[in-house]
Amino acid sequence: MIPFEDLLWVVFYAASAALVVAGVALGLLYALRGRSVAVQLIVVGAATVLAMISGILVISYLMLLNDHDRSVVLAVVTTAGLVAMAVSVLLGRRLVAANRVLVEAVRADRFRPPAAHLPAELAELSRELEAAYDRLAAAHEREQALEASRRELVAWVSHDLRTPLAGLRAMAEALEDGVVADPGTVRRYHERIRVEVERLTEMVDDLFELSRIHAGALRLSRRRVGLADLVAEAVAGAEPLARAKGVRVHGDVREGLPVQVDSGELGRALRNLVVNAIRHTPSDGAVEIIGEVRDGEARVTVADACGGIPEEDLPRVFDVAFRGEAARTPGGGAGLGLAIARGIVEAHAGRIGVANEGPGCRFEVRLPLHV
Ligand SMILES: Nc1ncnc2c1ncn2[C@@H]1O[C@H](COP(=O)(O)OP(=O)(O)OP(=O)(O)O)[C@@H](O)[C@H]1O
Ligand SMILES: [Mg+2]
Repeated sequence: MIPFEDLLWVVFYAASAALVVAGVALGLLYALRGRSVAVQLIVVGAATVLAMISGILVISYLMLLNDHDRSVVLAVVTTAGLVAMAVSVLLGRRLVAANRVLVEAVRADRFRPPAAHLPAELAELSRELEAAYDRLAAAHEREQALEASRRELVAWVSHDLRTPLAGLRAMAEALEDGVVADPGTVRRYHERIRVEVERLTEMVDDLFELSRIHAGALRLSRRRVGLADLVAEAVAGAEPLARAKGVRVHGDVREGLPVQVDSGELGRALRNLVVNAIRHTPSDGAVEIIGEVRDGEARVTVADACGGIPEEDLPRVFDVAFRGEAARTPGGGAGLGLAIARGIVEAHAGRIGVANEGPGCRFEVRLPLHV
């Protein structure tokens, strides 16, 4: 048995020699920090072997071992060290190969996690990369869809603007040249001009609103508003159009809890729904606006008697510039109303949906309750 004090000395000398080697190795690792993991692993392996050998040499010269013992121990330690180094070189090569597989997968057009067995950290990186690629692809798809609908919108809207403008110009010229002179026709022309100008103004205003929604520039000034007030305002705003068309509009609030909304913007969204409902309901039909609280959400429903929207159109009615076949006639809308309504509702963290039900369809706006 080695005396305890000697053991302490052994530890002291071995530690001193190992620390010197470790210092050199750390310096070397710092200098090589940008190099391959394989190279750095070789340095670690070499440092381990050298630390052991230097410890043994120091101790053997200072105190304990005779030549024979020293040679035996050195041979054993050196052999073990070389084997350990070979293992770390192998590990380094595997790491480099795994890394190369990952780099190649990243370079491909569409990242797919490599089939090779990766070390845990690289496998995690691969999963994160896949998720990031998926997010990127989804964003790209959204961007492309938006771009396509924007192009379509510009094409349609410029057509929609040009047609009434040509009409306005023809009427103005006829008035100017005195081609129409009898007071009845002149009055009719003036009235047509006013109506067309109002419609164009509305369209330009809708386009402006939509571009603000798309640019994320819709600034909401939210206030606490009762559900009942929202519904009452929607009903009151629809009165003139409903009366002109002979459509009855009812408002009904089953539970009038408050919501936190920009009443101007949300009123506009509801108005778009109600105007659509009245436009598509035959005279003598009825439109119902219901406010209620269900499943912890405020809901405003606009139900009409339009005879139902074709199933294949249902998912598209909220798209910018979408218009049903019947509505794609001169004098019809621009297909902006529902896109605006959806933009406004979503800016309020709400959702909007549509379903066919009863004699027509039912648009539903859901908003978080303000409690
Ligand atoms: N209540 C409804 N009943 C039946 N169809 C509807 C109803 N609301 C919308 N639609 C269909 O969805 C399409 C898109 O509606 P949206 O309000 O976005 O545009 P629009 O009414 O045609 O034009 P705008 O609102 O810009 O004047 C309409 O053209 C119509 O085909
Ligand atoms: Mg509309």
